[in-house]
Amino acid sequence: MSAGDDQVSRKRRDSGLSSLEIRCPSCAAGLRLLDEGGHCGSCGWSIPITEGFADLRPDPGLDTLLDVESYDADHQVDTQMHQLAGIYERILRNAGVEGPVRAIELGAGSGNLTYGLVRAPYFDTVVTSDVSPSFLRLLRRRVGDPPAHRLTCVLLDANRLPFVDGAADCVLGHSILHHLAEFERTVTEARRVLRPGGAAVFGEPVMDVHAFSSMICANIIDFEAAAGRTLPPGQTRVLKAVAGRSQLKTAHLLADRGSLGAIEDKFWFSLAYMRDLARKAGFQSVEMVTEPPDTAFGERIRNTIIRIFRRAGEDHDLLSNYDFLFENLTTAYAGPVGMADFTPFGYFVFRT
Ligand SMILES: C[S@@+](CC[C@H](N)C(=O)[O-])C[C@H]1O[C@@H](n2cnc3c(N)ncnc32)[C@H](O)[C@@H]1O
Repeated sequence: MSAGDDQVSRKRRDSGLSSLEIRCPSCAAGLRLLDEGGHCGSCGWSIPITEGFADLRPDPGLDTLLDVESYDADHQVDTQMHQLAGIYERILRNAGVEGPVRAIELGAGSGNLTYGLVRAPYFDTVVTSDVSPSFLRLLRRRVGDPPAHRLTCVLLDANRLPFVDGAADCVLGHSILHHLAEFERTVTEARRVLRPGGAAVFGEPVMDVHAFSSMICANIIDFEAAAGRTLPPGQTRVLKAVAGRSQLKTAHLLADRGSLGAIEDKFWFSLAYMRDLARKAGFQSVEMVTEPPDTAFGERIRNTIIRIFRRAGEDHDLLSNYDFLFENLTTAYAGPVGMADFTPFGYFVFRT
């Protein structure tokens, strides 16, 4: 941290600005959200606490659809957590958001991004959040014990933010919007709680990688049948489920958003759609930033399929007979269509 950053940070703390203000649901007065909760100075309303976390969910029954126990292993959180905050800081600085910043993180899960946020001086005050108490418990364990003024954990619904207008310099979410059936509301809420000059950054899938997993699994089913082999029923079940998944998703997407509640990875996003959404939500602009890929395209698809086999408790050795399919995906598809350096994940940067 530079001497200047340090001074601003100290000033914030001294003036009590190192926590964010929420609107009291009972009398609409502003009150400071503290890690241990807080209460309204006007009407005396106290923030409810669930499993040690301030609980501002509109419905305490709201929870995640994800498997919390297997989440970290399935998503390589131990590796990612060392890099993510640096990416978000760089993007925010490029968007002209000077530090130190007051950040709201949405859908923080087990702390994949939070781990780095509370270690980077640029992020002076971090209010991190999720809808799931189990995830916040894992997050607390992961981030350790940062100074109390740096981190506040809160349970909330990303579609109904409790913060007052203009409370934060930035709103961040890594891999959350595509889990929300009504993600447009999240983006609109993010705009409301940002101060002028602030920015929201959401890291999201920008391509339906599951369509490629479906194609590969459909091919494997056909190859096995043509070779006259019969796979164990569990493996056949997984292959068929993945092969049929794209059709299922597309039907849901086009027809019925209500049904999306039961599907984990609901969307992938185009810049064109986000541009339209940014305008409707009152942002000045949105751009998409991508990072260089860390894995060849075909390998990424293989890893996705392996994850599904693992989750189903099925052996995935069979996939090694089909190395050529994954290699072809990289060399015969991704390369020629200009996607050799493409990551199917992008960061949407919304500027106020
Ligand atoms: C794919 S995980 C991402 C977690 C973390 N950001 C990461 O990068 O590992 C999506 C997260 O969104 C949370 N979530 C789902 N619905 C939510 C909602 N309505 N409001 C807030 N968080 C929600 C889930 O509990 C989960 O932690």
